[in-house]
Amino acid sequence: MKKKITIAIDGHSSCGKSTMAKALAKRIGYAYIDTGAMYRAVTLYCLEHGMIDGDNVNKPRLRRHMPKIEITFKVGQEGKSETWLNGKNVEKEIRGMEVSNKVSLVSAIGFVRRAMVAQQQAMGKNKGIVMDGRDIGTVVFPDAELKVFITASAQVRAERRFKELQSKGDTTTTLEEVLANVEERDRIDSTRKESPLRRASDALLLDNSNLTIEAQDEWLYQEYLKKVQ
Ligand code: DC
Repeated sequence: MKKKITIAIDGHSSCGKSTMAKALAKRIGYAYIDTGAMYRAVTLYCLEHGMIDGDNVNKPRLRRHMPKIEITFKVGQEGKSETWLNGKNVEKEIRGMEVSNKVSLVSAIGFVRRAMVAQQQAMGKNKGIVMDGRDIGTVVFPDAELKVFITASAQVRAERRFKELQSKGDTTTTLEEVLANVEERDRIDSTRKESPLRRASDALLLDNSNLTIEAQDEWLYQEYLKKVQ
């Protein structure tokens, strides 16, 4: 049997990290954890409880509520992992523009990050996991055996996200709005004080602007094999 390792996949928003991470996890029988979904679920909780006013998050209230926020993943009917927040399936809601527009504010808060990182480390303590996010190779699992940092141009990422929204029935959001959201999130994610998005010095860099999904999946699989053989 091959040894189990930890695989950390970080990168900019909407660059196909989760597609790639999920495909690898399925192929090699590892658990997959989408850490962005966890920050999105906290953001949804804040919105549902009136804790966000414009660009302002009511931090004292959120801090008091943190112990009440329970995020889990369950495999849904189509065999896909879905995000649950306090006993409710929120997979669809956390992908909408309302959450996307506020998630960078919530994920920049130190006590939110510390709570999420602790849960992520617990989920990965037995290895055999593919985790994607922004700080997995730098903060959550600095000792991960395989680290990848993915990027693609903002335009390419916005087009991909736009198509995804359309395929989910969103006919009101424009490509320009999606591009603005992608660029704004890049800016906030890379300049925030708490765990800014950056490539770990030992992470492999992949720009997938011109790669097919099949080509990037195969590349990642070969990198995985190098680590376990
Ligand atoms: O990957 P995503 O677009 O679903 O992530 C949503 C937001 O959460 C994104 O703006 C950055 C933040 N995030 C983070 O700060 N740290 C992570 N490990 C994952 C996501």
